[in-house]
Amino acid sequence: MLRVGIVGLGRMGKTHAQNMVNHIPEVKLVAACSIFEEELLYAKEYLGVENTYSSFEKMIDEAKLDFVVIAAGADVRPSMICYAMEKGIHTFAEKPLGLSEEDIKKVVEVVEKYKDRVKFQVGFMRRFDADYLYAKEKIESGEIGSIVYIRAYGIDPSSGLDSFVNFAKNSNSGGIYHDMAIHDIDLIRWLTGCEFSKVWAVGANFARPELDEVGELETGIVQAQLNNGAMVHLVVGRNAPHGYQVETEIMGTKGWLRIAGVPEKNLVTIYDHTGVRRECSANFPERFKKAFIEEIVGFARCIKENRNPQASAQDGLIATRVSLVCQQSLQEGIIKEC
Ligand SMILES: NC(=O)c1ccc[n+]([C@@H]2O[C@H](COP(=O)([O-])OP(=O)(O)OC[C@H]3O[C@@H](n4cnc5c(N)ncnc54)[C@H](O)[C@@H]3O)[C@@H](O)[C@H]2O)c1
Repeated sequence: MLRVGIVGLGRMGKTHAQNMVNHIPEVKLVAACSIFEEELLYAKEYLGVENTYSSFEKMIDEAKLDFVVIAAGADVRPSMICYAMEKGIHTFAEKPLGLSEEDIKKVVEVVEKYKDRVKFQVGFMRRFDADYLYAKEKIESGEIGSIVYIRAYGIDPSSGLDSFVNFAKNSNSGGIYHDMAIHDIDLIRWLTGCEFSKVWAVGANFARPELDEVGELETGIVQAQLNNGAMVHLVVGRNAPHGYQVETEIMGTKGWLRIAGVPEKNLVTIYDHTGVRRECSANFPERFKKAFIEEIVGFARCIKENRNPQASAQDGLIATRVSLVCQQSLQEGIIKEC
């Protein structure tokens, strides 16, 4: 069994930690690190983690880990990745790998330097989702012909909008493209094998205009073209009234695919005084529950079998670069080459 430590026990870190404790027998969560005492208490009391730390470096130096999951914010992530890799600890890091291209380039250099003996994977969990894997198989078998157009929605539920507005007043997400569209950008690269060649981004704040003051967006749109000519629309946002809307449509010359065209929570239809309805998936931990488990299982297997994971630091860098070009396009109001 692999000994794992985690840093960051916020929304994302708790999801990974709970998965490792409850659903992934290949690993044992033996250490946790956070700057918040209540999160360390949570790790001890609810997750049964033996050792807790307020210093990441101390955890890496002392906890005798096989691998570490880095789910602290993107501002501190690059230095944590480099420290862990240099100490020979296999590293799984959440997306994005950092806030700037320069910081991520340093991460890529360090990952490349140690890649023969230390594994690294970035948290693009959609690559591990059964529905996206099925769609990829269909594309690769030629069933839908050549891809002409992709439309992707990635919109958080309105229930999280207030907390996002508070977060945006005090912290830096890197912008909606960097924080959210990065998943769709990676997904499209992975599904098509093509790169983004040009983008035009626009955005607006109608529900919470105060987001203008902190330079954040409630809804952002990107029109893009890939280097083979295929066309793309991305819609990312933080205000879906009905739940968590992650939907991808792929139009080919011989057929179309829609993944979660209606983002249903499950197969249950409810018949009640409102009529007949299906509930929507509520949030990212629910929609991608199995994918979050599978990405850690996949990483553990790569370590055991000495294979390189497929979601690489280079993938993290390229997706970030495209997302940053989207942000520049938004700010300058022009189409930008990637
Ligand atoms: N893959 C996905 O779909 C997905 C979804 C949500 C968030 N994320 C990513 O996960 C990361 C965390 O997001 P979140 O929503 O959990 O954030 P959060 O603010 O809820 O949690 C951040 C955590 O980092 C810890 N932390 C910060 N600085 C630290 C330091 N110096 N040392 C130790 N701990 C430190 C804090 O204690 C906190 O537990 C973000 O970068 C985000 O992009 C990914």
